[in-house]
Amino acid sequence: MDLYEYQAKHLFDMHGVPVVPGAVCETPDAARIAARRIGGTVVVKAQVKTGGRGKAGGVKLAANEDEAWDRAGDILGMDIKGHTVHKVLVTQAAEIAEEYYVSFLLDRANRSFLAMASVEGGVEIEQVAKENPDALAMIRVDALEGCTPEKAQEIVTAARFPAEVADQVEAVLLKLWDVLVNEDATLVEVNPLVKTADGRVLALDGKVTLDENAHFRHASHADLVDVAATDPIELRAKAFDLNYVKLDGEVGIIGNGAGLVMSTLDVVAYAGEEFGGVRPANFLDIGGGASAEVMSNGLDIVLTDPAVRSVFVNVFGGITSCVEVANGVKFAIRMLQEAGKPVDKPIVCRIDGNRADEGRAILVEAAIPGVELVETMDEAARRVAELAAAAGK
Ligand SMILES: Nc1ncnc2c1ncn2[C@@H]1O[C@H](COP(=O)(O)OP(=O)(O)OP(=O)(O)O)[C@@H](O)[C@H]1O
Ligand SMILES: [Mg+2]
Repeated sequence: MDLYEYQAKHLFDMHGVPVVPGAVCETPDAARIAARRIGGTVVVKAQVKTGGRGKAGGVKLAANEDEAWDRAGDILGMDIKGHTVHKVLVTQAAEIAEEYYVSFLLDRANRSFLAMASVEGGVEIEQVAKENPDALAMIRVDALEGCTPEKAQEIVTAARFPAEVADQVEAVLLKLWDVLVNEDATLVEVNPLVKTADGRVLALDGKVTLDENAHFRHASHADLVDVAATDPIELRAKAFDLNYVKLDGEVGIIGNGAGLVMSTLDVVAYAGEEFGGVRPANFLDIGGGASAEVMSNGLDIVLTDPAVRSVFVNVFGGITSCVEVANGVKFAIRMLQEAGKPVDKPIVCRIDGNRADEGRAILVEAAIPGVELVETMDEAARRVAELAAAAGK
């Protein structure tokens, strides 16, 4: 789960990473009050979970509370790369002398952590990595040893931080490491970490990704979930404990196993090109078991998405046999109908694997209106795309 800047900075503050005071505001009036309380020049910053806010006009200076009111009015409601701004952070303006970059992240490929640091911060770090790779130090941090004072020193030396800030940057690195470990984060990033005109080192921006698998260890993290910004269908899917991600197409997808669902998205997008660019409406992995109940919850979620025009059920029977899967589809539709939920969108099923013939026979015999059985994945993808296109006319 990615956090907003203001949430990331709150965690920074709790672990002793130096930040400037600020307040989250949802209206220009609140921004005015915050600016008055902070005093002096403030910065009004769009709170959206995407990068490049500054470039998009979502980070603005305000010399006084009236300007803060104006800037908040400009920024609230803005669209930044498809994210609507509902909140701004009003924060003290720092007098910046230099901008740096520091981060710790989980390096899955090497089963380790990685520290990245650069004295060329403030800009997109991908750009630094591409144009001037020498300016970006990358240091492995052993998961068991963690970031020791020696390691922090190694990072600071490798990134060639100026001597006068070395101690402060090392202290920030140790505290950021505390955030990563104690909050179970997979990423903590500060861009820019700045040196102010009076020589202090401060985190002016913050990005934190929390590991959702560790949520059970952090009761307080539940408050960080932004229910309002979460897609309502995703929220329902979560309540059913389903692995669901909303996408922007028209074909509902249900499959078992993340790999199969991923490739289903690909074949549907590919087949859809022939039908005016029809695309998958979601990712939904109902897992290995695929019981009738899970299938029913999955169908319920996908069918209630107003964007969905046709549904592709793509299941490969492994340990679960296709007989169970076919019965699952049959009972799922019956359960939905009995619950008064119309199953009125065409459903294309491709069932393969363990006891495929028997499974298919069950669906053929059931002859459920609107449910079609197609033998191969490619043919099924083509058919479901065709049905979605036809329903859209
Ligand atoms: N409190 C502040 N005081 C002075 N300048 C600031 C402050 N916060 C941000 N800035 C300036 O605005 C720039 C952009 O801010 P920030 O890094 O927070 O947003 P961004 O980089 O555009 O967004 P993102 O990090 O999402 O890409 C900074 O590099 C810094 O120069
Ligand atoms: Mg930034």
